[in-house]
Amino acid sequence: MLELIRRDGLARICRLHTRRGELETPCLLPVINPRLVTIKPRELYDVFGFRALITNSYIIRNDPKIKEIALTKGLHEMLDFPGVIMTDSGTFQSHMYGEVDLVNKEIVEFQRDIGSDIGTVLDIFAEPDWTKERTAESIEVTLARTEEAASLKGEMLLAGVVQGSVYPDLREYCARRLSEMGVDVNPVGGVVPLMETYRFAELVDVIVAAKKGLRADRPVHLFGAGHPMLFALAVLLGCDMFDSASYAKFARDDRFMFLEGTFRLADMRSLECHCPACIGHDLEEIRKMPDKQRTELIARHNLWVSKMELERVKRAILEGDLWELVERRCRSHPALVDALRALGKHQEFLEHYEPLSREHALFYTSAETLNRPAFLRYQRRMEERYVHPSTEVGVTFDEVEKPYSRNLMPVMGSVLEISDAHFHVVSPFGPVPIELDEIYPISQSLFPKEKDQQTVERTNRLMEDLAHRHTYKMGVMWDGEETLEVLKMFSQGKGSFDIDMARIRAVADYQFGKGAAAALFEGDVSLVKSKNVDRIRNVLVDGEHVISLRAEDGFFTLRPPGARRLQRGLPFPRLRVVVQDDAVEFNKQGKNVFCSFVIDADPEMRLHDEVMVVDKNDQLVAVGRAQLTREEMLCFKKGIAVKVREGV
Ligand code: GUN
Ligand code: ZN
Repeated sequence: MLELIRRDGLARICRLHTRRGELETPCLLPVINPRLVTIKPRELYDVFGFRALITNSYIIRNDPKIKEIALTKGLHEMLDFPGVIMTDSGTFQSHMYGEVDLVNKEIVEFQRDIGSDIGTVLDIFAEPDWTKERTAESIEVTLARTEEAASLKGEMLLAGVVQGSVYPDLREYCARRLSEMGVDVNPVGGVVPLMETYRFAELVDVIVAAKKGLRADRPVHLFGAGHPMLFALAVLLGCDMFDSASYAKFARDDRFMFLEGTFRLADMRSLECHCPACIGHDLEEIRKMPDKQRTELIARHNLWVSKMELERVKRAILEGDLWELVERRCRSHPALVDALRALGKHQEFLEHYEPLSREHALFYTSAETLNRPAFLRYQRRMEERYVHPSTEVGVTFDEVEKPYSRNLMPVMGSVLEISDAHFHVVSPFGPVPIELDEIYPISQSLFPKEKDQQTVERTNRLMEDLAHRHTYKMGVMWDGEETLEVLKMFSQGKGSFDIDMARIRAVADYQFGKGAAAALFEGDVSLVKSKNVDRIRNVLVDGEHVISLRAEDGFFTLRPPGARRLQRGLPFPRLRVVVQDDAVEFNKQGKNVFCSFVIDADPEMRLHDEVMVVDKNDQLVAVGRAQLTREEMLCFKKGIAVKVREGV
């Protein structure tokens, strides 16, 4: 069973509950070849802190001596490893060496009998050059074998492999079928040839297709991914587990793994590594070491680099800068740049998991940054949710220092003296209505001063779109005092644009949906502002505190009176999370909503949205922030669905 602890988009830190205790993901399982041990499992556990490893049951079964020990003592004692042991089935051997004499039933039972914690089905490795027909046929065999394995697994967790070669529809189909079966982990298989030939863009498509079809509560293992340069990207796409044979294979070839790639000892001119394996050694000394000692040193180095990168990725999930990390990592090879660009094709899918805001500001690293789901989110919501004020004139400013509204206040004041105007600022996200200048990511983002071609083109396109949509009688680009002269000629008199009132209305519609502002602010509206910085803090309607405006991301925090108003303006199930009757009293006391009590939720809800917790009859129970998507709330059995702020 998987429990989600923290996340950013599809990337997640989880706890996988196994009979050998909890395994934190994302995690790397070093591959142990029982016939050729490079680093002892005990050292992996005690020194490196690896809590899981993977070994091959086919190799064990084919070696009479090892087989006997495994069957009598069990895997854990045999390998001297107290953590989680996953076993593979022999599928990979058939990929490498052609058909091997294996029967699914036998190898699954064998894995179970030697005490594997996570065993693997004997899936068929669909090669990237297979035709669609051949791939489709082999998937049916893999699925039938998975059904069979599920009936044999006993206490062992079972890994059911998503195959489908490079055909996204077949990958998704296979994943969907596996979602209905009694399996516990879903490796994405058949991808080693893609990784070996640096076809990383296709790898992105394959992972996305698998994720689309898989239940959200299934841990996803990327089979054969052991290079740390891939970890950030794969975690961003929702992979939870990796396995690495590369650390030892590369070491036997005198190759050091780094985040920038893999380097031969013979070619290296300096060793800028201070990992526990390398520290105190220089290249000359390493070159002169006896083979075994040298291989072990490089293997340890490779493991440390991999482990440190996974730690770094976890930190990025916690701090909210995983996209930035991925964009930096994907600079280390042109094929990874292709992978980064391939993410652009999946913007729509990724937007579904894009949080309302992040703690970390959005940093622009390259033109690929424009493909992030945050850009699509903003563009969409502007088109679908923003209501243009009906002023005479629309004035557009080139970008200024943030926050825009503070810096432009004096100029806007002088325009309003002579004309009924509204204002936009040209930003890399597109034109920003001045009253939305403090929402994430508009205010919480940093771009280089010098814009590149892609950013300029994108901005121009969105400016044109605005020109078709707005309802001003006249639109002008601000060009200093001259613009004031032009406006004077056309002016019908003073403007009455009130940025505070415009702000609360625009933010409400942007955040909650069209119609939210009308519902929330019907009546006598008054604003409570902070004294020193003149910022809106609370909004009161007819004397009731309905919502508060957060300084961090410019969005609203909902209070129960606001939630009741919103309920009237937004028809069920918008922004609702429906809980079972027996949870109602608990949540009314202000306690969090746990997944197991959710019976339905808004499919359009996004992560960190303010939501209304309601009972079956749409009666308000509490308000809080969504931690999961609807599908996740409905399929996870453990964990928090809504962080409740206030019960009612
Ligand atoms: N190891 C690497 N790729 C695969 C795969 O597709 N299936 C199995 N079972 N093991 C693998
Ligand atoms: Zn090192």
